[in-house]
Amino acid sequence: MRLQDKTAIVTGAASGFGAGIARRFAAEGARVMVADLAADAALALAQEIDGVAHGVDVADDAQVKAMAAGALERWGRVDILVNNAGITHLPTPLEEVDEATFDRVLAVNAKSVYLTARHLVPAMKAAGAGAILNVASTAGLSPRPRLNWYNASKGWMITATKAMAVELAPAGVRVNALCPVAGETPLLPSFMGGDTPELRAKFLATIPIGRFSTPEDLANAALYLCSDEASMVTGVALEVDGGRCI
Ligand SMILES: NC(=O)c1ccc[n+]([C@@H]2O[C@H](COP(=O)([O-])OP(=O)(O)OC[C@H]3O[C@@H](n4cnc5c(N)ncnc54)[C@H](O)[C@@H]3O)[C@@H](O)[C@H]2O)c1
Repeated sequence: MRLQDKTAIVTGAASGFGAGIARRFAAEGARVMVADLAADAALALAQEIDGVAHGVDVADDAQVKAMAAGALERWGRVDILVNNAGITHLPTPLEEVDEATFDRVLAVNAKSVYLTARHLVPAMKAAGAGAILNVASTAGLSPRPRLNWYNASKGWMITATKAMAVELAPAGVRVNALCPVAGETPLLPSFMGGDTPELRAKFLATIPIGRFSTPEDLANAALYLCSDEASMVTGVALEVDGGRCI
């Protein structure tokens, strides 16, 4: 029960890494808000883990404001915020990604971090405590060709993590990031540009440990960084990548 009595919002928690993180946080004693654009799937997971579901588009200021207010009204405080919701464009030559797609990727992956900070950091500062975790990617450290603007959005997240960490440390708020390598989630075919044995072999060849990451891998790392065990750790972008970035 490493998160006993903690309260946590996990965005994008209805699927993939976010669902793994939400399940593990609940198993460790946290009260979890399963926040996701997919409201029905969020409800199903919230019922499974005895959490709270909240339908939200993390790129929309009014909706993020309502999410934060809902959590603060219910719990009185938010100890942990996991900015996990994210999307990608398909592998595409960089000059061919259309403007609407670019804007949406940046809004969901980058602007959302700003919006959740706007609406949750004041309460964390007032409490003198908080842990924020941004789910970035190895894409932000070691970009792959044709995932160009997605890569850049994750690089933005890593810099935002460090900027937030240094500014919020005196207020008792820690901010860290995770950098997963390609993982076994519904998003994986979008990164690979399909799902064939050949594409899998090509990606696996770049991961020294020889397998894709899993929601459990990310949940273990998130649990540590968001627990009091990591009370001296802030501003890190932790690779969970089987050695890909070495
Ligand atoms: N799977 C990978 O290979 C991989 C690798 C590195 C980083 N990541 C990152 O991990 C995070 C989770 O990805 P995943 O693979 O679990 O994906 P996923 O598609 O399985 O889950 C993402 C969830 O986010 C939700 N979501 C999407 N847009 C949203 C929005 N605007 N507002 C609220 N919710 C929204 C979706 O409904 C979905 O439930 C993302 O930030 C992704 O970029 C994934």
